[in-house]
Amino acid sequence: MFTTLRNKEIIIAVTGGIAAYKTCELVRELTRRGASVHVVMTKNAMQFVSPLTFQTLSGHPVIHEMFELFTGSKIGHIALSDIADQMVIVPATANIIGKIANGIADDFLTTMVMATTVPVLFVPSMNAKMWESKMVQMNIQKLKDAGYELMEPGVGDLACGTKGKGRLPPIHEILEKMEDIFTEKDLSNERIIVTAGPTVEFIDPVRCITNRSSGKMGYAIAKIAKRRGAEVILISGMTYLPPPRSDIHMVQVRTAQEMREAIMRHFEDATVIIKAAAVADFRCKNESTVKIKKSEEETYVLELQKNPDILAELGKIKGHRILVGFAAETENLVENAFEKLKKKNLDMIVANNVAKEGIGFGSDRNEVTIIEAHGRVRHVPEMTKEEIANIILDFVKRIMKKRKTTEDDWL
Ligand code: PMT
Repeated sequence: MFTTLRNKEIIIAVTGGIAAYKTCELVRELTRRGASVHVVMTKNAMQFVSPLTFQTLSGHPVIHEMFELFTGSKIGHIALSDIADQMVIVPATANIIGKIANGIADDFLTTMVMATTVPVLFVPSMNAKMWESKMVQMNIQKLKDAGYELMEPGVGDLACGTKGKGRLPPIHEILEKMEDIFTEKDLSNERIIVTAGPTVEFIDPVRCITNRSSGKMGYAIAKIAKRRGAEVILISGMTYLPPPRSDIHMVQVRTAQEMREAIMRHFEDATVIIKAAAVADFRCKNESTVKIKKSEEETYVLELQKNPDILAELGKIKGHRILVGFAAETENLVENAFEKLKKKNLDMIVANNVAKEGIGFGSDRNEVTIIEAHGRVRHVPEMTKEEIANIILDFVKRIMKKRKTTEDDWL
């Protein structure tokens, strides 16, 4: 797993809301990612979940008393603030938001937050009317102004039997926000188009030609690029994947021609284009508007016509943009990929051996060879697609830096 949370000291502060039971899952996932988790609970939180549950999940004693000592004689709230890399208040009730926004420090949790200099993330959850109330909104603004990190509650059914804004965001979104906080925003000036997934070419309204791409590689690149601060436009063929992040601009397409149109719409402002999608080279010459009837013939001939080669077209008009292609190969990986790089005028190509079991199509893992325009070849051994995505983006960043140095030398 690609994570910034490994070996980090994370303080999870639980306050008294029904969503406290979901925090158990968060603690479990954090420990799975290799973080060291310390749980602090308010008295009200203990009405919802027992400290024993959090102790079992985190492997550390749970702190809930104001005058508890930490590792021997150290004053608890100061010691925890000192070791922490990040604090997360989850769920954050209207009460805790109000107390911290107004400088009240009257229990372990609030004194600990007051004593810390590390990022503190609030994940609110409450009744929708409470969330919308003037007092809560004023306090939220105060927290923002004071530099605290905040997530917006989700919309939907609430535990009090009503509907509205107040739900705890899904655990994967909380984790992504935590990863975000630890990630350097080194791509913050970039506008990156990523394509992902398969294209489908219709034979008739019910049948189509497609390929085995799941979209996982492209979605991983989009997610990590966003985490590193880029503005991301993800142009995706039909996949079963949920959007990688809610702050990524998603464009859904089906055919190669639709993909081409979507790219061209966003091309002008892009600084980087990464084409991980598996695009059909051909489409049906005579797509039927009605379902083709089964005939008595033993064979059926389908006439295909060439699709636009989007990447080759982009290579001709790319200007200053960095253009990254992928190559799905089953033999002569480096030679074939390098030929594509030259032919399509790319800055870099990521070659994967799609004949190898356990990587490539559909898998969460991949193994690639990255080839740069000047011919440098680097083999990246098998790892998760998110890890590979991060390495690809490091290469993109390096190309940018090199260009900048060359430009500076000319000045
Ligand atoms: O989606 P996953 O299940 O995670 O699998 C990932 C992947 C194996 C699909 C991905 O890593 C990958 O290799 N994508 C490129 C697949 C492909 O179309 O390769 P190609 O060698 O046929 O095409 C070369 C490049 O030209 C690609 O960047 C492709 O997007 C582009 N192309 C191809 C044809 C076409 N008509 N237009 C294009 O732009």
